[in-house]
Amino acid sequence: MKARLLSISAAAVLTLAAAQANAEEGLDLAKKAGCLACHAVDKKVVGPAWGDVSKKYKGDAAAKAALVEKVKKGGKGNWTEVTGGVPMPPYSPRVADADIEKLVDFVLALP
Ligand code: HEC
Repeated sequence: MKARLLSISAAAVLTLAAAQANAEEGLDLAKKAGCLACHAVDKKVVGPAWGDVSKKYKGDAAAKAALVEKVKKGGKGNWTEVTGGVPMPPYSPRVADADIEKLVDFVLALP
């Protein structure tokens, strides 16, 4: 029983550590790609706070694909009331598709 409890908490610690590593990787990638010129996790800069983006699409299974497209091609209209209609610039092919996917995963995983 004790061993089982221990292995459960070890797994929880590993999951936490992995989540933290992903978050750090996500922010690092965002910094390198230049996203942080217009975005922050917790407040609007030019674009919406990424925490608000995550909230807006919580539970929306189609969101990931749509957001990957948005980051690749740019666009506007989903946050007009926050941004005043400023567009999100296109990032493909400047940023690799795999990295764009990682960035969107990172944003959607924000609490
Ligand atoms: C020049 C400023 C700017 C930069 C740089 C920028 N964004 Fe944005 N971003 C915006 C604006 C403005 C919006 C709101 C667009 C809208 O109203 O639909 C936005 C929206 C978004 C959204 C939500 C899209 C939606 O349709 O709900 C995501 C996700 C996002 N950006 C991710 C990124 C990522 C990842 C990067 C870096 C690769 C990045 N942004 C770089 C300005 C920027």
